[in-house]
Amino acid sequence: MVGKVFIVGAGPGKKDLLTIRANSVIEEADVILYDDLIGDVVEVLKKTKAKLINVGKRKGTHKFEQEEINKMLVEFAKSGKKVVRLKGGDPFVFGRGGEEIEFLAKEGIDFEYVPGVSSAIAVPGVAGIPITHRNYDPAVVFITGHESRGRLNWEALAKFNATIVILMGLSNIEKICSNLIEHGKDPKTPVAVVEKGFSSEQRVIEGELRDIVEKVREAKISPPAVIVIGNVVKIRRGLSKPEKRD
Ligand SMILES: C[S@@+](CC[C@H](N)C(=O)[O-])C[C@H]1O[C@@H](n2cnc3c(N)ncnc32)[C@H](O)[C@@H]1O
Repeated sequence: MVGKVFIVGAGPGKKDLLTIRANSVIEEADVILYDDLIGDVVEVLKKTKAKLINVGKRKGTHKFEQEEINKMLVEFAKSGKKVVRLKGGDPFVFGRGGEEIEFLAKEGIDFEYVPGVSSAIAVPGVAGIPITHRNYDPAVVFITGHESRGRLNWEALAKFNATIVILMGLSNIEKICSNLIEHGKDPKTPVAVVEKGFSSEQRVIEGELRDIVEKVREAKISPPAVIVIGNVVKIRRGLSKPEKRD
């Protein structure tokens, strides 16, 4: 009998933010292929009977190519296994989950999408920055900081009244800020960078488009981090008592 592949979101790095559905498919899995997850989610995996394979890919030192992962998913499913493909945040937000379901569908393998709490929303949130607020911009744009094919319309982005949330943007933060300023975005637009959200090492650096690069360098911020550009960043400053998390 052919098995099934579950494309599962692990959330932003806290095991209690796994969904109930994610927990139950993880518990029943025969094989779990997981990315380099931050936080304590890996502890949950270690308690299962499943074969665990870390297919985490680091920039530069790729452990597994995407094609290899796709093939492994198909092979395990064809041998009748319940396969969990576990990714940080939500699998369909800059997580290549889309490529994997295309491949599975082409190979005739059953799959199920199990959503996760995306860092794109939750990491700003845990830092006291709601990505929308009725008094501020009426839209949100999610962008990848690794777009290298020139497909981002910087002019449109600079003119659009939207909160801009950037994932994987730290190494290109200088280019991102200067592109936005060059295309007309106010250099005084508030910016926050949230490093290692939900962890005990979480740090938040605040500034403006014109000075955030310097501040990030000074503080030696390192990935993973989410960059938020927009007026909603001001909300954090107005919170007299920040959220408390145990
Ligand atoms: C490959 S993308 C995957 C995003 C994921 N699918 C999601 O929905 O959150 C990885 C990026 O997510 C962001 N990220 C994920 N977890 C984070 C966390 N706990 N704190 C800060 N940034 C995080 C960082 O921008 C990181 O470079």
